[in-house]
Amino acid sequence: MAFATRQFVRAASSDAATAAAKKLLIKHVTIIGGGLMGAGIAQVAAASGHTVVLVDQSDEILKKSTKGIEESLKRVIKKKFADKPEAGAEFIKKTLKNLTTSTDAASVVHSTDLVIEAIVENLEVKNKLFQTLDKFAPEHTIFASNTSSLQITKMANATTRQDRFGGLHFFNPVPVMKLVEVIKTPMTSQKTFESLVDFSKAVGKSPVSCKDTPGFIVNRLLVPYMIEAVRLFERGDASKEDIDVAMKLGAGYPMGPFELLDYVGLDTSKYIIDGWHSLEPNNPLFAPSPLLNKLVEEKKLGKKTGEGFYKYK
Ligand code: NAI
Repeated sequence: MAFATRQFVRAASSDAATAAAKKLLIKHVTIIGGGLMGAGIAQVAAASGHTVVLVDQSDEILKKSTKGIEESLKRVIKKKFADKPEAGAEFIKKTLKNLTTSTDAASVVHSTDLVIEAIVENLEVKNKLFQTLDKFAPEHTIFASNTSSLQITKMANATTRQDRFGGLHFFNPVPVMKLVEVIKTPMTSQKTFESLVDFSKAVGKSPVSCKDTPGFIVNRLLVPYMIEAVRLFERGDASKEDIDVAMKLGAGYPMGPFELLDYVGLDTSKYIIDGWHSLEPNNPLFAPSPLLNKLVEEKKLGKKTGEGFYKYK
């Protein structure tokens, strides 16, 4: 029995060792898109010791991204190094040293281990980018998209590296939110998946895994919940203020559904639900909301435009 147990332990640990040996240790990361999400991902990757190149369309945008990262890092050190300002200053210096920028993705991916795409939410534009980068990135490089609503499989199919392609779905604001959804398509290899899980942990996040289904885990539950709140309000069953109070005090949510819709952007939520509705037109959870459509038409998109369900002036 003892022998069998020893044999089993030895076999199991050698299996684990083989799997670990197969994984790719990600050191060099290229992030495409220096907006809200890309800048946040670049920040956490650089802060955790990765060499990061952040790519966007112009130097002007990249200057703004870098400035945003610097401001965000200052907020981080206020908390993390409250009693040690020198250590905080050193942390910022080291992080910024790990970060460079470029406007030419093709010329910087030659030595990268991982490309994370965080550009505009448009499948054609994303596919075009991945097709180009597929030609310039080395064989071992893993590609990942941060998309919220598009199918990872469709992007993987635009490249020749379907097994080295997955989803890495970070949450806004990236430096604060602890979750990353790691998305495995039917073609994503176990090695790629495990490398992405390890990378997520290395940047200080808690990864969960999900198949390539609409909305993955969080948005699949959250978006229909928010739209259902709009329907409840549209029917006149309760006021939006009371619905928000109810979900905060009764369910312990930090924001009510209308506050969250305004924060996320009504256009973004509409875009997501419309996309899912076109994939599954008979799914009642994905039915479009006339009120949401009306507000988007009126350009009342939430906090960013000064008005959505609430006014912010
Ligand atoms: P954003 O609009 O803030 O940033 C996108 C950036 O990509 C812009 O700076 C733009 O100049 C750049 N860009 C566009 N096309 C490019 C190209 N071909 N090459 C290089 N740069 C290009 O957008 P955001 O909010 O950061 O979203 C990016 C991605 O992350 C989208 O796929 C979105 O669905 C996803 N996402 C967004 C979340 C959010 O709360 N905003 C949350 C999770 C995922």
